[in-house]
Amino acid sequence: MKQILIVGLLACAVLNAETGHDAWLRYAKLDHSVSIPDTVTALSTNILEQSARDEVVRGITGMLGKDLKVEATAPKDSAILLGTLTEIHNAVPALKLPATLAPDAFWLKNAILGKAHYLVIAGGDERGVLYGSFALMRKIALGDDLKTLEEKQTPHATARWVNEWDNLVGTIERGYGGRSIFWDQGHARADMSRVREYGRLLASLGIQACAISNVNADPKILAPDFIPEIAKIADAFRPYGVHVALAVAFDSPKKIGGLDTFDPLDPKVIDWWKAATDGIYKGIPDIAGFVLKADSEGRLGPSAYGRTHADAANVVARALKPHNGLFFYRGFVYDNHMDWNNLKNDRARAAWDNFHALDGKFDDNVIIQIKNGPIDFQVREPASPLFGALQKTSQAIELQITQEYNGQAHFLMDEVPLWKETLDFDMHAGPQPTPVKSLVRGFVGVSNVGLDENWLGNDMSQINLYGFGRLAWNPDLSVKDITDEWTTQTFGSNRKVVDTIGAMQMSSWRTYENFTGPLGLQTLTDITGNHYGVSVEASENNGWGQWHRADKEGVGMDRTSTGTGFTQQYHPPVAKMYEDLQTCPDDLLLFFHHVPYTYKLHSGKTVIQSIYDSHYAGADEVARYVEDWKSLKGLIDDERYNAVLKMLEYQAGQAVLWRDAVSNWFLRESGIPDTKGRVGHYPNRFEAEAMKLDGYTEVAIKPWEAASGDGKAVQCNAAKCSATMTYSGAAGTFNLHVRYFDQNSGNAKYRVLVNGKDVGDWTADVVVPSFRLDGSTSTRHIVSSVALKPGDSVEIEGTPDGREVAALDYVEIH
Ligand code: GCU
Repeated sequence: MKQILIVGLLACAVLNAETGHDAWLRYAKLDHSVSIPDTVTALSTNILEQSARDEVVRGITGMLGKDLKVEATAPKDSAILLGTLTEIHNAVPALKLPATLAPDAFWLKNAILGKAHYLVIAGGDERGVLYGSFALMRKIALGDDLKTLEEKQTPHATARWVNEWDNLVGTIERGYGGRSIFWDQGHARADMSRVREYGRLLASLGIQACAISNVNADPKILAPDFIPEIAKIADAFRPYGVHVALAVAFDSPKKIGGLDTFDPLDPKVIDWWKAATDGIYKGIPDIAGFVLKADSEGRLGPSAYGRTHADAANVVARALKPHNGLFFYRGFVYDNHMDWNNLKNDRARAAWDNFHALDGKFDDNVIIQIKNGPIDFQVREPASPLFGALQKTSQAIELQITQEYNGQAHFLMDEVPLWKETLDFDMHAGPQPTPVKSLVRGFVGVSNVGLDENWLGNDMSQINLYGFGRLAWNPDLSVKDITDEWTTQTFGSNRKVVDTIGAMQMSSWRTYENFTGPLGLQTLTDITGNHYGVSVEASENNGWGQWHRADKEGVGMDRTSTGTGFTQQYHPPVAKMYEDLQTCPDDLLLFFHHVPYTYKLHSGKTVIQSIYDSHYAGADEVARYVEDWKSLKGLIDDERYNAVLKMLEYQAGQAVLWRDAVSNWFLRESGIPDTKGRVGHYPNRFEAEAMKLDGYTEVAIKPWEAASGDGKAVQCNAAKCSATMTYSGAAGTFNLHVRYFDQNSGNAKYRVLVNGKDVGDWTADVVVPSFRLDGSTSTRHIVSSVALKPGDSVEIEGTPDGREVAALDYVEIH
């Protein structure tokens, strides 16, 4: 009996466990009923329609607790009916159907014909049926009224792809959700279940193709003996209509083809691309196409032979053409060895400079894949001027789902508002308004999901994958629509949950920008390294071109016509707006102009005071997120509640670090104090290096702004060390904010003792992307409710582990 009970309890626990794995496709039980026919019929045995039917069964069982009867033939009476337009027409001619539906499009209809009740999902093709099924399940999950349902949906973008920057060894470049779901040690993984499940997530958003290899491409991907490896992945995706695409290397003809050249105009090279492509399609006939990064960040390209990007693109595109393959040619081409002393040099110019003159020279299956901004997925950039420049060439917008520069998997950062701003931005490329969304035929999302249960390393980051797909389908959806949809499906429909999470998500971009790089400064992070922690000067004095040019006098890149001339790459109304200080928005001021610190913004504040204020505001906002999240306890599952809480508490500590680091850096550089007296004054802060040290030795942190007290901290090179101070404030109960360094080279332990008594301990075990003592590893732990009175000894004890030196920066008493 006892055993049965335990088994029963375990089963319940498993059922209720929320790992984030099902993302927005949880199909959690609804608390209201919906009138649904008892039967589901897919009118074809096509695999996509079978998947569509299975999805409906799964959704209805989960949400409504109803087991549908599955029928294979056309029903005489009520049914959920799935099929292409023609199939539905043949099965139930009495239904009034739309005359046509485009590929991937669908039509949903609730119809009563006599006594029969039909819930119809008609697709423009089989994949449209699948997309329609997901759409119907979404409607049910969102509580939409089905009674009057009659809706036709056609995707906005005809090409909707994700790119995964997965290396064949199994690592992922800029991936924060674990190892590759595709590759392991140079081969396709033995277990393809995650690929199948990812296909389902992608199909639910209408995404048609997935590039399964890093744009920093391994030529091996095109080797004939590698085709079976790719085929395994294509097989796993196929039931969900997701086609495999490949990132290819331009020097492949030489690297794996045995040729002595990869000159795109050499007949041998032309033949090689044709034969290699034919070979791939012979093995896998439904490959979606290729993507190429050439002449960028060390990748070889046509410039090696004095050829143009059009020469390069067309050779590969012509090899793909007979197979209906698309060729995404990346517009992310720039020189990363620019002379930074030359004030005319500007990386932002690169995409336009490289491509605009080639407009009209590309074959029709080439799509130029353009990052949303002219630099590289920074926290704020203007729209790339290339969107407005290509009039006769297909273009796609490339958006980054993985939060490379935006807090990675550790921070709350909803990219949807950022993308939406770019998509809606009018490029003035014609007589009518030309928002970016109207100029692109493709959407590409750099997704980088991994084996982590929740795919992206953070439950809250899933909104970025969801939002990308929804915008690719319909860029007119509002941020609020997308946020509410995502939250309701992911966390449930409780009003407080939807409102609280929605408000957090929708404000998170501004918050992140506030405590990292406001006013168009871009993300002030470790540009040449992990792109995560704070490092204000990392962008300067090097050829990478993410310069902000802050000096003693002022800050910002002069990109006006008398500066680098970048503003002139836009059509006149846009150029004029950015060129003129009066009309340039504050949010992009320092992206376009170099101004003195005392320059007054439209807000009336000086630039320097605005930098200080926004950093304080950003840190305060993250602290508020922690409290907002705590108000949801019990309203969402404990697993995800705890995981997100831990992440937010960590982020709150990081935001304080960013706030202090950036503010102090600008204080030192400008010499202009904060009018509110905060920057550089921390009355409750006690520096570790000024405490009585036993074993700990002082260390200078690089960059200096990543540690309090002008860059000084202490590290332990013994088995155990301690730093002790005597408390001299008023008696009371306090929270101790201990700032220490959590390297990824061990799990050091810390203890806080008051008068020798242990009041709190923890392990430094956050997985951050650095082993150094720097802006990535500086971390905060709060020991709550500690009673202190004058004369008490407060001791922090650190026990190193491996190469992690239990370093300590300060203690703040609140
Ligand atoms: C960024 C990123 C690289 C990536 C590159 C690209 O620079 O840091 O890892 O390869 O973008 O988009 O090609």
